Amino acid sequence: MPPFLTDERPDNALTLTVIRAGDWDAWLAEADARSWLERSGFTGKPGASTLVPAADGGVAVAVAVVPDADTLWDWAGLPAALPEGTWELVTPLDSAAATRMALGWTLGTYRFERYKKSPAKFATLLWPVVAERDAVTRAERAMHLVRDLITTPAGDMGPAELEQTARDLAAAHGATIDCIVGDDLLVANYPAVHAVGRASARPPRLIDLRWGDENAPKLTLVGKGVCFDTGGLNVKPAGGMKLMKKDMGGAVHVLGLAAMIMDAGLPVRLRVLVPAVENAIAGNAMYPLDVIPTRDGQTIEIGHTDAEGRVILSGALAEARSEDPALIIDIATLTGAARVALGTELPALFCNDDATAAGILAGGEAEADNLWRMPLWQDYRGHIEGKTADLTNSAETGFGGAITAALFLESFVDADIPWVHIDVMGWNSRTRPGRPEGGEAMGMRALFAYISEKFGG
Ligand code: BES
Ligand code: MN
Ligand code: ZN
Repeated sequence: MPPFLTDERPDNALTLTVIRAGDWDAWLAEADARSWLERSGFTGKPGASTLVPAADGGVAVAVAVVPDADTLWDWAGLPAALPEGTWELVTPLDSAAATRMALGWTLGTYRFERYKKSPAKFATLLWPVVAERDAVTRAERAMHLVRDLITTPAGDMGPAELEQTARDLAAAHGATIDCIVGDDLLVANYPAVHAVGRASARPPRLIDLRWGDENAPKLTLVGKGVCFDTGGLNVKPAGGMKLMKKDMGGAVHVLGLAAMIMDAGLPVRLRVLVPAVENAIAGNAMYPLDVIPTRDGQTIEIGHTDAEGRVILSGALAEARSEDPALIIDIATLTGAARVALGTELPALFCNDDATAAGILAGGEAEADNLWRMPLWQDYRGHIEGKTADLTNSAETGFGGAITAALFLESFVDADIPWVHIDVMGWNSRTRPGRPEGGEAMGMRALFAYISEKFGG
């Protein structure tokens, strides 16, 4: 059961009335508590809530005002705003709105509690009758998993721990999993994953999970699993390095998405490929201007050791492509440039297929989990040509850095396989209701909405 949602209706259940902003004036005109509400200065602004006292001085009811077109986030402030206790919604909502309410509510109670128990207590909501419980439970679990994993410090979340997380997920859903670790990466022809990860005391690996009917359409997810990014020998400055425990955000986004797909039993042949490494500094680290071979035979010049994500993803994408899937999606905390372009809260979507891109953007709109499309601007391909190798991982110019990174990845997929690349922050830099500062899943629910529509049968 998602946190702070319950089936148990206590005798002293509290009553929650929801008013749409557009109905506020009409509702107020007829309300018993009209004079109390007016005198207490409650103006019915969307997002506001208030308690209305009963004649005996007890709480009679809480009134919450929500926008006419709500999103799940409009409900997420209520569990903290209302007093503890079990609240029963007495306003009829349609199933979609009740589902948004329940999901927003439970996400509004999220705290990262691995090391420090949260003193925060929240109000509990009695499941709105018509809410789609499975959808709420599935999304809450995946969001919770992604947030917890990203926020967990690198010292406790290295490549081996990431592998264990994937193993636990596989075991829970009857998936198979295969991991290639350390020098075995060279034997198995993942030299670029090895090159980035070899300087860490914690061996690099390629995590490979498969699930579903062999004959169903193939969907392959690829995630950047850099468990900490020091920048390598061209080391990051302190401020830029501080948050780099989140550089495995793409990997855990695809694990969360995979969990949703498996939980929903979508009729796909799912494969998840995660190169899990630490971009560390040591005597055996790769050097600037090293040339690294990758899985499909192309060579990569290391223009900058801090552009490590695209180097490890090259091998995973080449493997993904080799099976000719119906769709490839990669998610990565790939560039600072994507954040300069769109800010931290709007993931950048790159896609070689217009219909796929439109479908994902629509999923984002429907789920209030928006992304923004950016171009695979082919004129910039020249920037990623290597001087002594086929490609350079770091263009001479930093301008258009999210685009040049995406073009680099595009070199490892085929034009006739729909491919999606999402450059994501994976971190809330500020706290909003339901979205506390810390690790965040961004675009994951949008992708699930699209995938369940496209493959759902
Ligand atoms: N993990 C970083 C990108 C990043 C930084 C994402 C901050 C979100 C917030 C990535 O590995 C990186 O260091 N990219 C470099 C690439 C450059 C050297 C071409 C960047 O964006 O500066
Ligand atoms: Mn980096
Ligand atoms: Zn990185």
